[in-house]
Amino acid sequence: MSNINKTGGGLSHEKIETNNFLMIVLILLVLLFGGLVEIVPLFFQKSLTEPTPGLKPYTALQVLGRDIYVREGCYNCHSQMIRPFRAETLRYGPYSVAGESVYDRPFQWGSKRTGPDLARVGGKYSDEWHRIHLINPRDVVPESNMPAYSWLEKSPVDAASLPTHMKGLRTLGAPYSDEEIAQASANVKGKNELDAVIAYLQVLGIHRK
Ligand code: HEC
Repeated sequence: MSNINKTGGGLSHEKIETNNFLMIVLILLVLLFGGLVEIVPLFFQKSLTEPTPGLKPYTALQVLGRDIYVREGCYNCHSQMIRPFRAETLRYGPYSVAGESVYDRPFQWGSKRTGPDLARVGGKYSDEWHRIHLINPRDVVPESNMPAYSWLEKSPVDAASLPTHMKGLRTLGAPYSDEEIAQASANVKGKNELDAVIAYLQVLGIHRK
């Protein structure tokens, strides 16, 4: 009678349920398998891995601008992902798709919106507007609570590390030619960090307009 739940041998339920270690290992295996089934196909789905039509890798100056955007924590207040809701698309433009972020490492989707979404801000304002806005936002938007980034204009860009950086991005999939990488430092000569951030902002989302 006491053997009523026992099967003939092998991995019976009783063996698993009375052995913590075995239970943990088997749970982990199931989770691992489930995870792989969900994640692996994404690497082969074209809509997620190929750039959307018209999307170009960032130029040397834009790469630097993007780094400054990350360094200054702009993503703490600005998302770059338009959700597929009417209120969002009416305000910001077509909703974001995965193929738009293939050259973004790491992506800047963000989730906090103290300020507006920036996914399609490219071309919305002139360079001069951005210049004034970044040096002191309240000069153009009196009620703004965005911090002033006045030092950007006074800091020259870090051109020296650019080729290594772009080589790294190339390894990850951005199709830079040897020539583009060799000329990167020369292309950003004399530019300051404000120029770089503006170059970056002005290209955001323009391929979808
Ligand atoms: C503390 C939050 C905060 C931070 C940090 C911040 N912003 Fe803003 N940003 C705002 C707010 C609020 C607005 C809306 C008012 C305005 O236009 O100034 C705004 C507006 C903007 C706009 C205009 C968007 C539009 O569609 O009108 C741009 C461009 C922008 N920010 C870029 C940046 C960049 C680049 C950085 C980092 C260097 C940054 N912001 C950091 C809060 C922030």
